[in-house]
Amino acid sequence: MKRKEKKDYISEIRRIKAEKNAIILAHYYQAGEIQDIADFVGDSLALSQKAAVNDADIILFAGVKFMAETAKILTPGKKVLLPDLDAVCSLADSCKEKDFREFIKNNPGRTVISYINTTAEIKALSDIICTSSNAVQIVDSLPKDEKIIFAPDRNLGNYVLNKTGRDMVIWNGTCHVHEEFSLEAILSLKDKNPDAKIIVHPECELPVRMVADYIGSTSALLNFTKSDNGNCYIIATEPGIIHQMKKQNPTKKYIPVPPKDSTCGCSECNFMKLITIEKIYRCLKNEKPEIFVDNKILIDAQKPIKRMMEISKKLGL
Ligand code: 13P
Ligand code: SF4
Repeated sequence: MKRKEKKDYISEIRRIKAEKNAIILAHYYQAGEIQDIADFVGDSLALSQKAAVNDADIILFAGVKFMAETAKILTPGKKVLLPDLDAVCSLADSCKEKDFREFIKNNPGRTVISYINTTAEIKALSDIICTSSNAVQIVDSLPKDEKIIFAPDRNLGNYVLNKTGRDMVIWNGTCHVHEEFSLEAILSLKDKNPDAKIIVHPECELPVRMVADYIGSTSALLNFTKSDNGNCYIIATEPGIIHQMKKQNPTKKYIPVPPKDSTCGCSECNFMKLITIEKIYRCLKNEKPEIFVDNKILIDAQKPIKRMMEISKKLGL
């Protein structure tokens, strides 16, 4: 049988979506062509808010597993699909349930705040979930004397610690994309583009955060390039976000930062990039792979995610 062309997959995706009352939620780190067919594109916080409130029967997540699991936890009655179950997250993977239980046991009396980039099992052990968009505000919303465990990203944790000055014990996890940005490359790009602003995701290492003109979540970086009066940006986060930046403001220049080990020269998240148009088509057509979460874990994980949503709503985030 003749292999379909990309445009055929795209029109089939549109047709099946309408037929099955399905929506596609895509993260900013997805390929541009996937962002363009999605019903909603956003950062982790906006995606979970959208997953919680929509009229679809099926949610297809163009993102990674922890995002699809969060959607399932928030809407257990819906069918949640992920086009490739290998699309996991190195950061979520750095925090295993058994080790985390031990960590909590060894640091008693602390409120457990976990980043949304965790498995459902870790969420179930947590008191509140946060994303990079609301981590500082979530921590700040707690009484000043409340002691905190923050997991799993040590860079985001240290960033939040510096901003809030709270008593925090931080899990030693990192994201393989954000810990690898080359400071040397950033400085050399800045030399060649002296008017450029360096904008950085808080998952980056301290030396990279130290040279930043602006630090923020993916949506915060996007908003910054929109409202800022500059014309050129050196960007230390996954380069998928540049697709939206260009759509918003095509005349500005956006320079992605390469990793330290620059053999491929790009800083793409290999998990995010496992999702393709063809896989989305097959997944929608066959309604699998589907995401399932054990019922007890789902119930326990719902509480801390809902707590995050309530705090975020109160703060207008
Ligand atoms: P955001 O919270 O900005 O969406 O980031 C998610 C992520 O995976 C960062 O690596
Ligand atoms: Fe996980 Fe890093 Fe990929 Fe984000 S960029 S999904 S934190 S591995």
